[in-house]
Amino acid sequence: MKLRIHLAFWFSLAAIYALIVLFGVGFIPLPKLWHTGKPVVWAAWQAPDPNAIPAGPAGDGIRYGIHLFQETPWYAPQFTGNKLSCSDCHIANGIAPYATPLVGMTTIYPTYNKRAGRVISLRERIQECFIRSENGRPLPKNSREMDALVAYIGWLSQPEPTYKPFIGRGLIDLPLLHPDPKRGAQIYAEQCAGCHGENGAGSLPMMPPLWGPGSFNDEAGMNSISKMAKFVQYNMPQNRRGILSAQDAYDVSAFIHTKPRPRFNPAYKKY
Ligand code: HEC
Ligand code: HEC
Repeated sequence: MKLRIHLAFWFSLAAIYALIVLFGVGFIPLPKLWHTGKPVVWAAWQAPDPNAIPAGPAGDGIRYGIHLFQETPWYAPQFTGNKLSCSDCHIANGIAPYATPLVGMTTIYPTYNKRAGRVISLRERIQECFIRSENGRPLPKNSREMDALVAYIGWLSQPEPTYKPFIGRGLIDLPLLHPDPKRGAQIYAEQCAGCHGENGAGSLPMMPPLWGPGSFNDEAGMNSISKMAKFVQYNMPQNRRGILSAQDAYDVSAFIHTKPRPRFNPAYKKY
């Protein structure tokens, strides 16, 4: 009896030892993080320095792209149908994390697009935002404006010499919740109306509209309660970010979705 216990003990010890050796030489794969040997880099990504935009025509294109991004209806009046600029949703000219930043887009596109059901180019993706989020017309793929926007996004997407990964693509994740637009109306009056107006029309040039003729149309990405909730929970109220719970964000987004907005022009369905 005693001997058996002894044997069992030594056998288990030998088994544990064998496992350690096998992991060590890599016969049994360990979870990726231990395996790579490289430390995970968490250091913050740094936006390229605007002072480093080159002189000459290439730099002029990037600078024009920034203007277009920041004041879209002013610089591209013939292609916009509302009062929104790209930077109203792609906050801080497309570099704020979890506000659908555009950093890295030139390496991600062309990519599969669910709405189109096929692989699309960055220029085609920009057209989508023009006809929906800007409630406008498709910006021609080889126009001066398109070249400038792509030049700016390309400049944002250039790899950093030190390779610090950009964290924060898209929007944050929130659980799917059941929204209460009545409760949302109260949150809107307390937390949003001061900037976006009781009537949702905003106060231009600083405060963008949330509904009505100056806003995005009913096919825009933001015209979804869950997507808007993800944007709002992380990024709004702009002066007191972080005070809304996921439920608050759903409720206020549902309230905004009870309001009228421009209709998508079905002639642009193929974009
Ligand atoms: C009303 C808000 C809004 C405005 C205005 C807007 N966008 Fe967007 N855009 C979004 C949202 C939301 C998404 C993500 C959509 C999704 O996930 O379906 C997006 C996605 C994109 C993407 C793809 C990002 C990715 O991660 O794949 C590009 C590129 C883009 N927009 C460019 C632009 C440009 C350029 C403008 C200005 C001409 C613009 N957008 C104006 C809301 C907006
Ligand atoms: C202090 C002013 C301020 C407050 C308060 C505020 N916002 Fe905003 N909001 C802005 C500004 C400015 C932008 C444009 C993006 C930026 O520069 O941050 C914006 C952008 C937005 C957008 C995307 C652009 C658009 O017009 O569709 C949405 C949606 C939004 N806010 C919703 C809300 C909601 C919901 C609340 C209340 C919970 C709120 N905001 C409170 C100032 C404010």
